Amino acid sequence: MEPRMIHLTTDEMPRQWYNLAADLPTPMQPPLTPDGTPLTPEMLAPVFPMNLIEQEVSQERWIDIPEELLGMLARWRPSPLKRALDLERALDTPAKIFYKDESVSPAGSHKPNSALPQAWYNREFGIKRLTTETGAGQWGSALSFACSLVGLECKVFMVRISYDQKPYRKILMQTWGGECVASPSTETASGRKFLEQDPDTPGSLGMAISEAIEAAVSDKTGKTRYSLGSVLNHVMLHQTIIGLEAKKQLAKAGIAKPDVIIGCAGGGSNFAGLAFPFVCDKINGAEIEIYPVEPESCPTLTRAPFAYDYGDTTGLTPLLPMFSLGHNFVPAPLHAGGLRYHGMAPLVSQAAVEGLLKPMNLPQLECYAAAIQWARTEGPICAPETSHAIAATIREAIKAREEGREKVILFNYSGHGLLDLSGYDAYLGGRLSNYELPEDDFRAAVDASLQGLPKPERRASGKW
Ligand SMILES: Cc1ncc(COP(=O)(O)O)c(C=O)c1O
Repeated sequence: MEPRMIHLTTDEMPRQWYNLAADLPTPMQPPLTPDGTPLTPEMLAPVFPMNLIEQEVSQERWIDIPEELLGMLARWRPSPLKRALDLERALDTPAKIFYKDESVSPAGSHKPNSALPQAWYNREFGIKRLTTETGAGQWGSALSFACSLVGLECKVFMVRISYDQKPYRKILMQTWGGECVASPSTETASGRKFLEQDPDTPGSLGMAISEAIEAAVSDKTGKTRYSLGSVLNHVMLHQTIIGLEAKKQLAKAGIAKPDVIIGCAGGGSNFAGLAFPFVCDKINGAEIEIYPVEPESCPTLTRAPFAYDYGDTTGLTPLLPMFSLGHNFVPAPLHAGGLRYHGMAPLVSQAAVEGLLKPMNLPQLECYAAAIQWARTEGPICAPETSHAIAATIREAIKAREEGREKVILFNYSGHGLLDLSGYDAYLGGRLSNYELPEDDFRAAVDASLQGLPKPERRASGKW
């Protein structure tokens, strides 16, 4: 019988995170202040603790995972590497489909891989309370869980559309002791402004980030900091434990290297977590196709310009060099709430500028069809975000059949969808549609949002 699962023991867990910044052929451009001067680490100090800022700006290739933290991550790590044998058979493909199952964490996704380190480093720095935003509710529940483990308070601003569509995520946060409010809220000046502009706004991650940063920096005690679930370098770093484990597991399965790597991309963290250790191999000569997959209605890597833009809607964050649909972009009310983000991690963006990645976007209906096929072959109910990776995997597996090639495909199963059933209900009831963005309106809105901001150079070595 072919093995379906490849496990590592606790002792085999990676003891260091991998930092792609050390290996990118062209160095990253720095974040800027609104007046265009490079940001210094000290400027970030009201928002993040210095130990995480050090990771954010680090150029070291390997960063040690503290022993105590490793023990805490071992509650659910190493996560299993699984083989989707039944999907392979259903697709009649010669491809071998492997996936890293990140749905096994207590919160049901990859998010605790960074939530726990972030909470831990904040506590080490003497912080008592964290604020954050959440889209689908996965990050908010992960941070609530992490804060409960390390003994911090947690306040979560949850994007309105997801707050309404996913009430159970709020209950999860509360169960772990977190406080959850719908964003935009009346609790912050930013939130009140968004509501004044549009009282019925579905909200966006950009708006929720503005509220969470404001709530952190306005705490007079100085004991509150903000925590972001994606986009930033230190979040990508923490997530690389996924790809580092996967490498060891593939080796155990007798596979020297995968041919294709796939991950869905919202802010970029689960994709980066799986992909970056393999991007390193690609930089060093390995032939691997690496696909970040985003929704057709939020096509950051595939249709947006590479720009300097704010990470939030109000403009409280530094200007980050990234692909961006513009900080005012409000994506369609997709069920894949975690993919409704206007920007993309600067590290993922720079890897894409280099040509190391092949970004693609997919329509919502194809992704739900893939989720259903997955459930009816492999069994699990995937998160709507994860369905984008599955749909791309199915496309690749069919291509392998047509080409008669025995490829090894590895994708990131970023989370389960057991609390996302309203999307499945809408799909099965025929009430979902695709959201296309007409080119003209789309361009005009993006240009208006980015107008007057500095422009990064498109630096690439030209090797890929
Ligand atoms: C299950 C799941 N997958 C993917 C994402 C997208 O985020 P990122 O691109 O940071 O991995 C989210 C975000 O909430 C998520 O909950």
